[in-house]
Amino acid sequence: MSVSPATPAPPATAPAPDDGGLLRAIAVTKAFGGLVAVEDVSFQIPARSIVSIIGPNGAGKTTFFNMLTGLYAPTAGRIAFDGRDITGRRPDRITALGIARTFQNIRLFASMSALENVQVGQHARMKAGLFGSILRPPWVRREERETRDKAREMLDYVGLDSSVHEQLAVNLSYGDQRRVEIARALASDPKLLLLDEPTAGMNPNESARLTAFMRQLRDERDVTILLIEHDMKVVMDVSERVTVLDHGTKIAEGEPATVRNDPRVVEAYLGKRESESADETGETTAEGG
Ligand SMILES: Nc1ncnc2c1ncn2[C@@H]1O[C@H](COP(=O)(O)OP(=O)(O)O)[C@@H](O)[C@H]1O
Ligand SMILES: [Mg+2]
Repeated sequence: MSVSPATPAPPATAPAPDDGGLLRAIAVTKAFGGLVAVEDVSFQIPARSIVSIIGPNGAGKTTFFNMLTGLYAPTAGRIAFDGRDITGRRPDRITALGIARTFQNIRLFASMSALENVQVGQHARMKAGLFGSILRPPWVRREERETRDKAREMLDYVGLDSSVHEQLAVNLSYGDQRRVEIARALASDPKLLLLDEPTAGMNPNESARLTAFMRQLRDERDVTILLIEHDMKVVMDVSERVTVLDHGTKIAEGEPATVRNDPRVVEAYLGKRESESADETGETTAEGG
């Protein structure tokens, strides 16, 4: 019997072909001593998409973000962004290339106003060095004025009331602090925005506003968004694709409605209250590790 020369159809689990995605992680692993926090994860984000990473606490989601943004160098694997290999590059270099993020635990400068916090975010784009900042020639003053104007514009854009732009960041509500953090990330003109549990601690109303804002950001500013999210209502609502991590490995990936019914995903979440109930109540879960 002769063997057919026809190429067999690739199995459904074959890695996605290189369609020129904005970000590609290829077999990325991160070990902390004996603990493998992320194991052999391959992942791709098309430009102008909104993609979520979900998974139980300790699944390796934040560690994965930390590798994408240069806080951790992968133990193995490669990361490519916008056609460049960024594996192990410094965080400031990665920011300058166009990846910005917010943190699971909000990181704002407590002694600075909302406005000043956002001005810090433009640092990667500023030219004035130490001498310029001391001598303050006219072009430095112009740059300062421009950063302040831009910071105001960003705060307006994320919906922070102008009456609180000058208030200390610590005195703002939780939802407003998240907004300032997103404004700061946007101030670096990112192509890709990473949000680590942006709705943690928000009420359903604030979560819904943030969801609408993510779409607006993508549609108006061409920003590609990758978010880690616990609130399944937000995940189902906003994501075009979902990737599920469990114990450091990718256990499922695809459209939200398909992924949520995947038996492996259901099992990974079993006993976790966000598995089924959260999408009915719109309730957010407490922030986890
Ligand atoms: N800097 C670190 N040193 C040692 N272990 C870490 C470090 N960061 C994360 N881990 C461990 O890696 C695992 C994944 O953590 P993390 O990425 O924060 O999970 P997730 O964000 O999905 O909740 C956890 O077991 C965590 O304790
Ligand atoms: Mg985390």
